Amino acid sequence: MNDLAGKHIVLGLTGGIACYKAAELCRGLVKEGATVQVVMTEASEQFITAVTMQALSGRPVYTSQWDAREPNNMPHINLSRQSDAILIAPCSADFMAKLVHGRADELLSLMCLARPIDKVPLLIAPAMNREMWAHPATQRNMQQLADDGATILGVGSGFQACGETGDGRMLEANELLEDLVAFLQPKALAGKRVLITAGPTFEALDPIRGITNHSSGKMGFAIARAAREAGADVVLVAGPVHLATPRGVRRIDVKSARDMLAAIEGEATRADVFVATAAVADWRPATHSDQKIKKDGSGAAPTLAFVENPDILATVAKSARAQSGALFCVGFAAESHDLVKHATAKRERKGIPLLVGNIGPLTFGQDDNQMLLVDAQGVQELPRASKLECARRLVAEIAQRLPRP
Ligand code: C5P
Repeated sequence: MNDLAGKHIVLGLTGGIACYKAAELCRGLVKEGATVQVVMTEASEQFITAVTMQALSGRPVYTSQWDAREPNNMPHINLSRQSDAILIAPCSADFMAKLVHGRADELLSLMCLARPIDKVPLLIAPAMNREMWAHPATQRNMQQLADDGATILGVGSGFQACGETGDGRMLEANELLEDLVAFLQPKALAGKRVLITAGPTFEALDPIRGITNHSSGKMGFAIARAAREAGADVVLVAGPVHLATPRGVRRIDVKSARDMLAAIEGEATRADVFVATAAVADWRPATHSDQKIKKDGSGAAPTLAFVENPDILATVAKSARAQSGALFCVGFAAESHDLVKHATAKRERKGIPLLVGNIGPLTFGQDDNQMLLVDAQGVQELPRASKLECARRLVAEIAQRLPRP
């Protein structure tokens, strides 16, 4: 992926052991296509060298406001004007306090103060001991920085270098990267609540066995991430899958279709958008045995009977909120052939405004997909792309179709 292609990021390092994670973060930023200008405070150089950061960013590091490389000798002005965002990771408690007071006695704080607030966002990844983090002064400073327009990316929790355990660790490099990418995405769904189903369902036969399918859940998880990036409040109802929850998404794990329906019905009353990507089992065993169904030695196979599962999407689409247009429903159709014909018919049968068609074998378990959008106006084919890019495009298409406030 090249989620940061064309972006120029200033990565600021302040004093803290979490500087070791900044090396990985710098690599991640470059890998996503960003150009990275590292600026380091004197204290940060106690933890990691400018040589390391230069090698990883591919650019000389700035450490002083008196850096003579700038013809006008104003690195604080030049560096901040060129950047799409300033990310301070790690940001020490002391540096937060400094920013709060608008102090500017070295390059990084000077540059933050000199940045055009409305054009160059400032993101902060705090890193400190748990007592320092919990201290009222730090909490007060964090609130003040947020009020002054900075974005605080939060902290992780767990074992700390000092030997204590608690809140205040810097987020991991991959988490910071995901947060920065999300921050820079357009906020087409700001203030909206999005509800998503993903993955397969598992219909138990007995305590050991059941019926399921090969849905990976990747498309639904990508949509959850894209919706969150677009500013939505996202609830992801997931069948059994082994995927990490996208950052900032609330996940409800379920097993059977009936569990999934119950979770969805509980959430749908508050949602503005419902996207059904789950591969819900069409049938479930008519009976469930509390004990393992055993071979009896006769060679006779058990006779299994099935009953139809509820259609979650069709049920939600019939609700009063969906019918009134307050809840916008989107379905998926995986077909093996005649995609346009089947997808068009499925949209009408399900009673939904938008249906996404795809060719099953070309998407199941894959990292990319090709989508066909079917709505009342007709059919639109989208180019093949990664599932995350497809998800972002779909989110933009959904946002365009929502009622204007
Ligand atoms: O009818 P079919 O299973 O092909 O429809 C696919 C669409 O309906 C998907 O959006 C899927 O998530 C949804 N669906 C559902 N509940 C079912 C079956 C399908 O929500 N029981």
